Amino acid sequence: MSAGYNVEDWGPVHAIPTYHRAGAGERTAPYGTPEHPIPLIIDSDPGLDDALAIGLACASPEIRLLAVTTVGGNADVTRCTENALRLLHAYGRDDVPVAEGAAGAILGDVVRATEVHGTSGIGTTQLPEAPNQALPEGAVALIARLLAESPEPVAIAPIGPLTNIALVLRIHPHLASKISHLCLMGGSIGEGNTTASAEFNILADPEAADVVFRSGVPITMIGLDVTHQALLDRRASQRLRDTGTRSGAIAAELTDYALDRNLEWSGSLTTAIHDAVAIAHLLSPDMVAVARYHVVVDTGHGPARGRTVCDGLPFRLRRKGMEANADVGILIERSRFEDLLVNAFAKLP
Ligand code: RIB
Ligand code: CA
Repeated sequence: MSAGYNVEDWGPVHAIPTYHRAGAGERTAPYGTPEHPIPLIIDSDPGLDDALAIGLACASPEIRLLAVTTVGGNADVTRCTENALRLLHAYGRDDVPVAEGAAGAILGDVVRATEVHGTSGIGTTQLPEAPNQALPEGAVALIARLLAESPEPVAIAPIGPLTNIALVLRIHPHLASKISHLCLMGGSIGEGNTTASAEFNILADPEAADVVFRSGVPITMIGLDVTHQALLDRRASQRLRDTGTRSGAIAAELTDYALDRNLEWSGSLTTAIHDAVAIAHLLSPDMVAVARYHVVVDTGHGPARGRTVCDGLPFRLRRKGMEANADVGILIERSRFEDLLVNAFAKLP
């Protein structure tokens, strides 16, 4: 008997939005093609699913990966930085610079997810040491430098807490126009995962998320509503292993670690590869369907702290004089997502 969020096991009726069910709309996020790869910075807290997201970006000709920056979240930021360096080395991408960012939230308690990702942040996986070190300038300065130097606006995929992104926007407000899009993994139209209200990345730094959602920078929020459709199971992790590549074996081991946790905790037979959905959206015109919402973050200190309050109901927005400020992910084809990951890791070393 499996509990949790096994899409395959959902009965005829499952929880759906109680009032407004959004229809998919036009995306506002750019996407890359092999002919015109999208310049991208990934800000992350590697992290089991971060690791697969970074691998997907490294393997995709639709993406020109400019840097990976790190933030404390799934594990302590020093662990996340070491994991980013070693993952890029394992993926054959020592050319991609890494810089370390905020250890914790701007305000509020430090929130970790080591119970999910292990103290190391990557379960029990041992990766060979990387030849590179993190750049001493740090994440905020590196992001600012890359934005300033780029001849074209740069997309950023924040797949951890939003502390670094809020700092960039506050310290370098003039560079906001050089961010083409923030395609962030975080939030939820419905329930949270870390609390009933809040998804981990937002809860880990609600004030930073509030700065980001109020910034006016174009945003796609890849929340739990769509990432909980992006599920892998044992068969899928075996497909990753069967690619025969070292990177595929790493992805399989990380996925199995997450599957073991979910099975132990809730009897679930699947695991959501949350962060990779944010990358998938930037390399495909139609992998993820989105709808327009006005999103505001609850920065209170009650039970709803860190909730992304998503309002997509047109007459309600008109009545309040509000404009939608984000595309929000609502649908992804699970099998297509799985194939995307397997094909990507088959191409890595
Ligand atoms: O809630 C999922 C998010 O929290 C993902 O980014 C995962 O890596 C964790 O950081
Ligand atoms: Ca993450």
